[in-house]
Amino acid sequence: MVLLVAGIDTSSTTLEWAMSLLLNHPTAMERVRAEIDANVGQGRLLDEQDLPKLHYLQNVISETLRLYPPVPLLVPREASKDCVVGNYDVPQGAMLLVNAWAIHRDPKVWVNPTKFMPERFEGWSGEGYRLIPFGAGRRGCPGVVLANRVIGLALGTLIQSFEWERIGEEEVDMTEYLGITMRKVKPLEAMCKVREPMP
Ligand code: HEM
Repeated sequence: MVLLVAGIDTSSTTLEWAMSLLLNHPTAMERVRAEIDANVGQGRLLDEQDLPKLHYLQNVISETLRLYPPVPLLVPREASKDCVVGNYDVPQGAMLLVNAWAIHRDPKVWVNPTKFMPERFEGWSGEGYRLIPFGAGRRGCPGVVLANRVIGLALGTLIQSFEWERIGEEEVDMTEYLGITMRKVKPLEAMCKVREPMP
């Protein structure tokens, strides 16, 4: 039950944010499609083995998780002894909340933090605690590998198989709902048509 609760909303929310970002950035959508066409072609659906070759798709997912982490405040921690965090004295027993959302948008840590720039992850080796949508440490998310694969497969096959467009001229509304998981206030509506030839 815990796996289902922790894994479903988080993964589906990420997919919705990623698709919304791509609809607002058609050049990035085109680049994902071109990468899939070049590496997989249109004769078959992409599968798990293709994912390591689809770097830009992976970068889109990382950038989505940076801007819209589904768990914006990580699971609360309790200080096991007195300590100092960022010049603040934290007494033993105090509850600590890590604001991943704020770290992901901190201009001291990221260039153009509010801009959607998947290419910022080209050649990135994941150093430091700058990108922590899955938390960190011993209680970090155990579903990280599964989540990346499921989201990569879902987003990749949707883009491989369909042409996607916004429902009008207006950009997709990106207002965030601040709850335990961060969803879109306005669920995504989009138009799609089957690509010819369909894989
Ligand atoms: C985009 C998808 C996902 C995101 C963003 C996400 C994020 C997180 C975060 C932030 C935590 C708390 C980690 C911490 O505070 O350090 C967590 C915990 C957890 N996640 Fe995920 N998760 C995702 C998908 C999944 C999936 C697919 C599963 C399993 C099928 C899963 C299972 C769990 C479990 C069991 C925990 C609790 C671990 C513990 O308390 O020791 N998650 N997740």
